[in-house]
This record gives sequence, structure tokens and C-alpha cells, in this order.
Amino acid sequence: MSKTMEEGLYSLLYLTLIFTILYSLHTQVAHKLLIGQHPLHLKKSPHLPLRFNSDGTFKILQVADMHYGEGMVTRCVDVLASEFDYCSDLNTTLFLKRIIQSEKPDFIVFTGDNIFGPSAHDAAESLLRAFAPAVDSGLPWAAVLGNHDQESTMTREELMSFISLMDYSLSQTNPSVDDPSRAAEGEVTKNIDGFGNYNLRVYGAPGSHLANSSVLNLFFLDSGDREVVQGIRTYGWIKESQLRWFTVISKGYQGQRQDTNHLEEASACAMPPAMVFFHIPIPEIQQLYNQKIVGQFQQRVSCSSVNSGVLQTFISMGDVKAVFVGHDHTNDFCGNLGGIWFCHGGGFGYHGYGKAGWPRRARIILAELEKGEKSWGEWIESGPGSASTMRS
Ligand SMILES: *[C@@H]1O[C@H](CO)[C@@H](O)[C@H](O)[C@H]1NC(C)=O
Ligand SMILES: *[C@@H]1O[C@H](CO)[C@@H](O)[C@H](O)[C@H]1NC(C)=O
Repeated sequence: MSKTMEEGLYSLLYLTLIFTILYSLHTQVAHKLLIGQHPLHLKKSPHLPLRFNSDGTFKILQVADMHYGEGMVTRCVDVLASEFDYCSDLNTTLFLKRIIQSEKPDFIVFTGDNIFGPSAHDAAESLLRAFAPAVDSGLPWAAVLGNHDQESTMTREELMSFISLMDYSLSQTNPSVDDPSRAAEGEVTKNIDGFGNYNLRVYGAPGSHLANSSVLNLFFLDSGDREVVQGIRTYGWIKESQLRWFTVISKGYQGQRQDTNHLEEASACAMPPAMVFFHIPIPEIQQLYNQKIVGQFQQRVSCSSVNSGVLQTFISMGDVKAVFVGHDHTNDFCGNLGGIWFCHGGGFGYHGYGKAGWPRRARIILAELEKGEKSWGEWIESGPGSASTMRS
């Protein structure tokens, strides 16, 4: 072999080697781009916007107070002695899987105390486990915080941003200030109290005359955790800044209606009805004890000693039709205050307090478009049999 041939062969081998390395880099490594130690993960988003089904329904599953700890090692509380030995957070997971499968909701809302901080050594791990059935279902879901979520390794802000980044989650830490379509809300959006105040719109069925109109408005508010008022410990409440933000959004819809001249368009653009979700009940809910309710009122309403005027604000805006709270696990009633339905979700999680022999439960909210009716059925662990369904 001549020297030039030899050199040529070497260069060829060398080139082949480089080529091979480049090729395998491209095929083996490129799809596993690493950021630090973790594989790059792009958040999976549900199909948006939220829409009513062609049959005119939109079904929401409300899950109140999962109180998730760490899974198998976290024991159940307030179950029958015969149930105790084989009961853990995994039962909460199983319940969530089953109810999603059998009810096939269009949207899932978690109304706080999703995890029970004191029983979770790692808040992120607990959140991932708690919401896993919702994430695995691929359904759009959203959450607000309760008063126990932050009692572990994350602050309320960190919890909300983590929850917002989970797959199929529509949760937001707070409304975005940068969104140009919401420039008018700018000022009021900047200094809003709490974490997890946001608004989602539900549009009409695809192909229908309401396909491009938002026909149901969902509001999520942070009702806080605990506060000390004049030296006395009490629960958190919805602050003035949050109500201001809520009012601005609602007024935005009213403006829409007034700007429209044609009668036909006006009805399509009319301020859509709203539902509101948060954790801690408002003080007026206590009055329902002496009034006609549907469902069970079995414990004192543990609300804040501060009344910030939430009910008055909702009544004056006129769009809120129903409010869904959690917090009091053995209350699952709906009652009417000033024309607005207030419903408790009952307790969902087995690690949260409850009543042995009184099954864990969730609420099914069925919004029906054409009939202009809404029903607030309830799904009890044993199945929807003894559901208390009501219509307004
Ligand atoms: C919890 O789950 C286990 C395993 O599936 C089951 O045997 C047990 O009956 C469940 N307990 C309750 C209270 O549902
Ligand atoms: C909704 O918007 C789409 C896209 O802009 C349009 O093609 C459709 O006709 C609109 N539908 C209605 C009912 O306005």
C-alpha cells in the first residue's frame, strides 16, 4: 500500500467514525435532551378551548379535600375498624380512577386540601401522586389550594406554579399580566392577593351557533389558609383585591352585551352564567342551617371570622349562579343564598377526617345548555345510587 493510499484510508475511516458518532448522537441522544439531570419534558395540554358537548351538556367533577399524603404508607382515618387494616391513600387514588371512568366528566376541579402537608415529606411527590389519575385520564383539570396544601415543603406560590405545569392542568398561579387580550385588566391583575385566582371560559358545542361564544364562565379563587385577626386565629378569606379582579372580568362580559346592537347577537353575547370554586366557605353559609337545603349539614361551618363581602359582590354582579366549596368534609349540602346556590363537596380522601360508615364522596355538576338548567348531583363511593340531584 502506498503511503498516500494508506493516508486516504485512514482519513476515510476517520470520517466514517465521525459520521457514526454524529449519527448516533442524532438518533440516540437528540430526543433525550438533558436539562441538568432531568429529561426535557414539555407540558401536555388538553384540547382547548373547553366546550359543551353536542348534546348541550358539560359535566364537571368536583373533588374536595383529597388530603393526600404519601400513598401506600399513609393510613386512612375515620373508616370502620373492619376497613382500617387495608386502607391507605391508594384507596383515594382508586376512588378517583373509578369515578373518572364511570362518570366520564368533561372537566375535573380540585377544590383544595389536595395534599395534607403534615403527612407529606415532599410536596411535589405528593402532588404528583394525588393528581395522577386526573393526569392519566388526559382530561382537562384545574385546582385551587386549601389551608393544608402548604404545610409541607412548598409555599402556596410554589404549589400553584407546580400544579399549573402538570400535564393537562388548566390551573394558573394568577391571571397573566402580559396577555394583550386582557390589557384592560392589567392594573387590577397586578397586585392580587393569594395564588390560584383565574378564570376559564367554556364555549358552545363545536359547529353550533354558540361555537365561538363563551357560554359558561368558571372562576377559581384562593380563599387562603389561616390568619390572625386582632390576636385571634381564624381561617383565611377572599380579599378585596380578588373581588376587584373578579368584578372587572364580570363587567367585561357585561360590556360585551351592551356594545351589541342586534338583538340576536345580543343574546349570543349575553353575560354567560358563572360558577365559582374555592376552598373555605363564606360566613353566610352558616345561615343555611335553618333553611331548606339538599344534602347533609353535619358539622359546623368552619369559615373565617372576617366577612369580606363575597356574597354581596356575587349578587351585585348577577352572573354567578353557583359556588362550590370544600373544607368541611362531612357537609355535602346545597342551599340558596340570595339566588345563588352554595354547595359543599363533602370529603373525598381517605386520609382526611370524615365519618366512619359515611362513604367518601364527590360532586358531579352537570351544566345543560339548551334547558337553561343545571343540576348538582352527587356521587358517593358506593356509586351514584343515593345521589341527591337537584335542579333550579
Ligand atoms: C381499600 O382498597 C383495598 C384494596 O383495593 C380494598 O380491599 C379495601 O376494601 C379498600 N377500603 C376501603 C375503605 O374502601
Ligand atoms: C366560528 O369561527 C370560525 C373560525 O373563525 C368560523 O369559521 C365559524 O363560522 C364561526 N362560527 C360561528 C357560529 O360564528
